[in-house]
Amino acid sequence: MLPETLLCLVNAALIQAATASLSINTITRLNFQDLPSPPTFSLPAAQNLTITVAFCSSETISTRFFLTNVTSITVNQGLGTFAASFLDGGVLAIDGASSDDFSFEIGTSDSGPMHQVLATFPLLGDTTSNQALLFSPSFDPPVFSDPSYPNYTLPGPSLSPPSPPDSYPNFTLIISPTSSQTLTSLPQTACMIASQKSSGNIANESLWLRDEEGWRTQWILAGLSPQTNYTAYVTQDSMKLSGPLYFVTKSAVFACPLAAFLPYCPGVTYAIPLPSPDNSDLSIYDSTNLPSSISDTLIAYFTNFTTTLTTQACGRDYYSPLQTCADCQRAYFRWLCSVSFPRCGEQSPSTTTTTTASSIQTSSSTGIPTATSALQPQTTSSTPRNSAFSSMNMPYSVLLPCIETCQAADRACPNFLGFACPLARFNANQSYGVGYIDGAEPDQQGLGVPGEAQDQWGNIWCNFV
Ligand SMILES: *[C@@H]1O[C@H](CO)[C@@H](O)[C@H](O)[C@H]1NC(C)=O
Ligand SMILES: *[C@@H]1O[C@H](CO)[C@@H](O)[C@H](O)[C@H]1NC(C)=O
Ligand SMILES: *[C@@H]1O[C@H](CO)[C@@H](O)[C@H](O)[C@H]1NC(C)=O
Ligand SMILES: *[C@@H]1O[C@H](CO)[C@@H](O)[C@H](O)[C@H]1NC(C)=O
Ligand SMILES: *[C@@H]1O[C@H](CO)[C@@H](O)[C@H](O)[C@H]1NC(C)=O
Ligand SMILES: *[C@@H]1O[C@H](CO)[C@@H](O)[C@H](O)[C@H]1NC(C)=O
Ligand SMILES: *[C@@H]1O[C@H](CO)[C@@H](O)[C@H](O)[C@H]1NC(C)=O
Ligand SMILES: *[C@@H]1O[C@H](CO)[C@@H](O)[C@H](O)[C@H]1NC(C)=O
Repeated sequence: MLPETLLCLVNAALIQAATASLSINTITRLNFQDLPSPPTFSLPAAQNLTITVAFCSSETISTRFFLTNVTSITVNQGLGTFAASFLDGGVLAIDGASSDDFSFEIGTSDSGPMHQVLATFPLLGDTTSNQALLFSPSFDPPVFSDPSYPNYTLPGPSLSPPSPPDSYPNFTLIISPTSSQTLTSLPQTACMIASQKSSGNIANESLWLRDEEGWRTQWILAGLSPQTNYTAYVTQDSMKLSGPLYFVTKSAVFACPLAAFLPYCPGVTYAIPLPSPDNSDLSIYDSTNLPSSISDTLIAYFTNFTTTLTTQACGRDYYSPLQTCADCQRAYFRWLCSVSFPRCGEQSPSTTTTTTASSIQTSSSTGIPTATSALQPQTTSSTPRNSAFSSMNMPYSVLLPCIETCQAADRACPNFLGFACPLARFNANQSYGVGYIDGAEPDQQGLGVPGEAQDQWGNIWCNFV
């Protein structure tokens, strides 16, 4: 049908009243074969109505979606969005051909699009040769209520995780080997991606407050193949889609197990150099099976630091116009976690350069700076950075902490604590990843190469807890 004919149809429908109606703030799932005849729907009246169309089938179709006054909704990668004022309601007409079982959804909302591709990506914790620790996008960031003078009481290290919020989005994870390109070639909609078979199996799903960005659904996936690039998507409430995130599993010889669920170091969600835990269903270290020599030492440092910090008249004498004792404590805890829990790493298969600590080069062919990860090889005779860690009995590589974690604590804490970070122009790169997030010189915030600790392509350059 031509648009003109359709205009007649829409106008006729306006007069006759459309054959079916769509209600506000709902998603209507339709199959081509179930469409009313004529295929028109009346729209609810709204000051600011957003209509979204999401394809849930992968075949290419020549179908168009028209609204009152012949405006057609542009559908891109299976998703179409149109917003306008429909004070007197309107009509949506569907025109074109398709196979009978082609299915799609229509969302009508007065508070923004119901179907969306989210701007935030899922987050990779880490991988082993056959597991992956992944996070949904974040929600409900914590609100810090700082104490005040004269009762300036700082919290001790958390020994149990905070209780999760009562209501939270329903996130679903779908992954597939990148080489098959199954997911990325499909319409980029939640209903389409969620209908696909996911690789591996979800061994554990829980809510975790990993950092100040907020709560996330945390998945521990098992049953993956070694040294394989996977594509991951997360759907939210069956309407919104986040991704694609790419991640690479480690090679079959990678021996470090994952650590997670540590309330005093909530950001430690990566592989650590310890022998495989033998008393864990998930084959990970958590607060129940981590050697107490590691956790006790850490908790003693936390407690001692807090005591020393509060010898300062916190909340009365300000050592900085920007930072408080509570900020200092949070930054110090993060730094201490990042240096106390060494992180195992491995060169990404896509990077062919040699395994040295932080080196940033310029690609000779393109002139674009390229980075290799801040990996530091450890032999069986190397002294572990944290002596509470027993020897691994096999060589491995440590992914050094990003120096920004140290600099954040340096900036946030009062001088009398004597906290200082090594300088980039001396030997900082022996103990930290330097120049990834910020530049190598002071005052080069955000000027590092690649400008972040990890990206959505599966690269991790330094450890940012
Ligand atoms: C459709 O056209 C009529 C007349 O031009 C106009 O008054 C009305 O606002 C239009 N409706 C929409 C939804 O654009
Ligand atoms: C209508 O809603 C969209 C999405 O929430 C928003 O971007 C737009 O500014 C709104 N328009 C008006 C006129 O309120
Ligand atoms: C001081 O603050 C802490 C934590 O907020 C609280 O538990 C304690 O009761 C307060 N003490 C006094 C004397 O107000
Ligand atoms: C996930 O693992 C944690 C830590 O082992 C455990 O406390 C939690 O109950 C597990 N959740 C599920 C749903 O199995
Ligand atoms: C969450 O979404 C999945 C599919 O997207 C659905 O199977 C499941 O029932 C939902 N769970 C809840 C609690 O709504
Ligand atoms: C606690 O801090 C004090 C002062 O900085 C220091 O002398 C002491 O050795 C520390 N104790 C531990 C267990 O770290
Ligand atoms: C994973 O695959 C994607 C898509 O092909 C690619 O862009 C990315 O660089 C790969 N990641 C690694 C670490 O090989
Ligand atoms: C550390 O940096 C120095 C100078 O910036 C450089 O000469 C050295 O090769 C680097 N060391 C490592 C292990 O990357």
